[in-house]
Amino acid sequence: MTTATARAHPNIALVKYWGKRDEELMLPAAGSLSLTLDAYATTTTVSLEPSAAGDRFALNGAEADAGQAERVTRFLDLVRSRAGSTARAVVRSHNEAPTGAGLASSASGFAALAVASAAAYDLDLDREELSRLARRGSGSATRSLVDGLAIWHAGDDDASSFAEPLEGPAMSMIIVTVDPGQKKISSREAMRRTARTSPYYTAWVDSTARSLEEMAAACRAGDFTRVGEITESNALRMHAAIQASDPPIRYLRSASLAVFDAVEQLRADGVEAYATADAGPNVVVISRPEDARAVSRHLAGHGEISIVGAGPGAQLITEEDCA
Ligand code: ADP
Ligand code: DP6
Ligand code: CO
Repeated sequence: MTTATARAHPNIALVKYWGKRDEELMLPAAGSLSLTLDAYATTTTVSLEPSAAGDRFALNGAEADAGQAERVTRFLDLVRSRAGSTARAVVRSHNEAPTGAGLASSASGFAALAVASAAAYDLDLDREELSRLARRGSGSATRSLVDGLAIWHAGDDDASSFAEPLEGPAMSMIIVTVDPGQKKISSREAMRRTARTSPYYTAWVDSTARSLEEMAAACRAGDFTRVGEITESNALRMHAAIQASDPPIRYLRSASLAVFDAVEQLRADGVEAYATADAGPNVVVISRPEDARAVSRHLAGHGEISIVGAGPGAQLITEEDCA
């Protein structure tokens, strides 16, 4: 195949990945757990251009900036080395989610690129191998190969660091976009700074490993309450570690904290909802599916709101799916 198109969805972590043990292999400092969404898809087409001198990368209909293009080329170099190919490629991608806003565009972006480029370069990879490949583009992309709830095992080498599905309670996510603008400091850079300068980094990594074990047990038990409690506490711990970096980085704004306050009020009123936020100001609230409408009504006015659920892992799509 010389042209292939894939679609992937972002995933929102309930236990966060924040820190790398190995930057080259993209091995995380701790495992993590997430829900792949049924909305905000990324669609990516990779077309081989054997006579071209370099790769080209267009994102959302415009030529991507140099840093974004370089990241795609480094990823394609890995695919080419495995495929024994020197052919350059044209990559066209479209994100339905805002890019670089803490709504996991790098996860859906590199999961879609992994699936489309593996097919275009004729690599025959199973889902676990695709999850490992996506990891090399962006750590969080490891989990967007999996349907619904996914656990990314930290692993101790390239072969053992991949994501797989796990069972858990049904839940909805209410996404509150308080600002769709691109963050000034990427997740990659902020993660590096946290690891190098935050006095809380080691405690964060240790506590995440423990939270992950507890979260996996709560998922297996179908215990929504426990899942929610661990989710909110893990997110606040991550932001505490990030904020303690030097120079400090603060992703949460007053508008973000207002959503955390509103969620606390919801719980006081007897509706079980819990808040989390990735590396950006936007907040994701989890609830039982039957409570999602009430939660979204309560949060109206805090930002643009959408209710999403569990969605499919990254997959190849055919021309008819594009129509
Ligand atoms: P986010 O919170 O959106 O995941 P990150 O800082 O982790 O933000 O990553 C944003 C970067 O991910 C972009 O600047 C770009 O380099 C890369 N990216 C986003 N979407 C895509 C895509 N569809 N294809 C390839 N790379 C992408
Ligand atoms: C806060 O996967 O975007 O969303 O691996 O450097 O590309 P890189 O970083 P990225 O970091 C995601 C951080 C997070 C938490 C999570 O998704 O687990
Ligand atoms: Co990201």
